[in-house]
Amino acid sequence: MRRLVLPAVLLAGTVALTGCDGGGDSAAHVSVGSSYMPQPVSDEMAAGFLTVVNRGGTADQLTSVTSDAASDVTMHSTAGGAMEAKSSFAVPAHGRLVFRSGGNHLMFDGLKRKPKQGDTVTVKLTFARSGTLTVEMPVKSATYRPPTGH
Ligand code: CU
Repeated sequence: MRRLVLPAVLLAGTVALTGCDGGGDSAAHVSVGSSYMPQPVSDEMAAGFLTVVNRGGTADQLTSVTSDAASDVTMHSTAGGAMEAKSSFAVPAHGRLVFRSGGNHLMFDGLKRKPKQGDTVTVKLTFARSGTLTVEMPVKSATYRPPTGH
């Protein structure tokens, strides 16, 4: 009986993969939530946080981030207290990619105006497979921390 289970799982994976290659349908696999920007203290630079959820059976990659609010947006990882710019981040199949305070983060450089609490910043995330997603990132207080324990 066990032998019959595995091919069924592989077949389901194949169907999901076909869906991913079907153009506009593919974006449904990746979604973005819990985004926010702490109101920056600097006129030049701000940080941003969000969670990418991949409900599809195929891994994806976040390959670039842009925003009309900043001349440049970079993706950083944090390890051992030091941050490092990365050209891409993996989004595992049936998994998530988390940017949060103290960890991975987005950095907005060359702010065109200083975002204030209550504003919204438009951010475009480009994925290797899922195309581009536009996120309206709310600006929160400088000390905002998202609720934990989900
Ligand atoms: Cu950084």
